[in-house]
Amino acid sequence: MKDSYQEYYDIIEKHIMDFIPPIDTKSDTLYDAVKYSITNGGKRLRPVLLLAACEFAGGEIKSALPYACAIEYIHTYSLIHDDLPGMDDDELRRGKPTNHKVYGEGMAILAGDALLNTAYEVMYKDLIYYFDTPECLSCKVNAGLTIAKGSGIRGMIAGQASDIENENKVCSNEMLDYIHVNKTGALIAAAVRAGLYLGGAKDSEFERLTTFAEYYGLAYQISDDILDVIGNAEEMGKNPNVDLKRGKSSYVSVNGLDAAYEKLDELISKAVNSIECYYDNAEIFRDVALNLKSRTK
Ligand code: IPE
Ligand code: IPE
Ligand code: MG
Ligand code: MG
Ligand code: MG
Repeated sequence: MKDSYQEYYDIIEKHIMDFIPPIDTKSDTLYDAVKYSITNGGKRLRPVLLLAACEFAGGEIKSALPYACAIEYIHTYSLIHDDLPGMDDDELRRGKPTNHKVYGEGMAILAGDALLNTAYEVMYKDLIYYFDTPECLSCKVNAGLTIAKGSGIRGMIAGQASDIENENKVCSNEMLDYIHVNKTGALIAAAVRAGLYLGGAKDSEFERLTTFAEYYGLAYQISDDILDVIGNAEEMGKNPNVDLKRGKSSYVSVNGLDAAYEKLDELISKAVNSIECYYDNAEIFRDVALNLKSRTK
């Protein structure tokens, strides 16, 4: 396994455009709009987790790369759509004007659609050309299905739907958990589990790292809610204080800042404890979890 987040990050940065060749259409704008958002910074958390989980389980980066890029395409499409006037109506993303501010709403919707579809094209192509054994094919199909489910109608999209339906409403903690677990936790957990499938992980590894990813995914969105209140645009690359303006049901708006920090700490501890037995060769997972503490200081 690589020693640090940075090493995986560098691999993703190097290859993120590999599966998006210039498009042979009448619209150069579509390609520009796609490229604008996908090459525009971003922490690359989900593909890093996917590659790390694959190597953790004994797999190779090379075979996981299409799936890592695919999950980042899906994540980036979700951000483009999340920023649209019909959703969060945001103007700044990854340190630059949001996609629709540059290319217009119609093109931003299409750029998001294009990234989503490209993700599946990339994974299907990989299934056709690159497998040695039926077991290997089965692992790849499971990885693709895991990504589809996590980002889909019972995962991220479900969470996004409840997120917009709970604007300017009294929101229970049960609903709040449901929103956060789905809109953000589901894709993060899918990244880890897809990587484990690709690496051929054992059942016990699936069990422990899934528990880790579920705690971590929820913690990640709580940290995002906290940062919305305490962060600044320069460091985050997006505008702060937008949740309040938009009447979002966030951990901070529902429970207050102190309770949000408490819940964050509790979830980070649970995440870290669930992979205790792997500390020697799963340091990167522990680091990303502990990093949420320093990010929200
Ligand atoms: C932003 O995701 C949306 C949330 C799920 C909170 P990231 O915080 O991973 O954003 P990027 O990819 O680094 O821009
Ligand atoms: C977004 O949550 C989750 C997605 C699926 C994109 P937020 O709306 O809080 O994310 P930011 O703060 O705009 O990045
Ligand atoms: Mg949102
Ligand atoms: Mg948003
Ligand atoms: Mg947010």
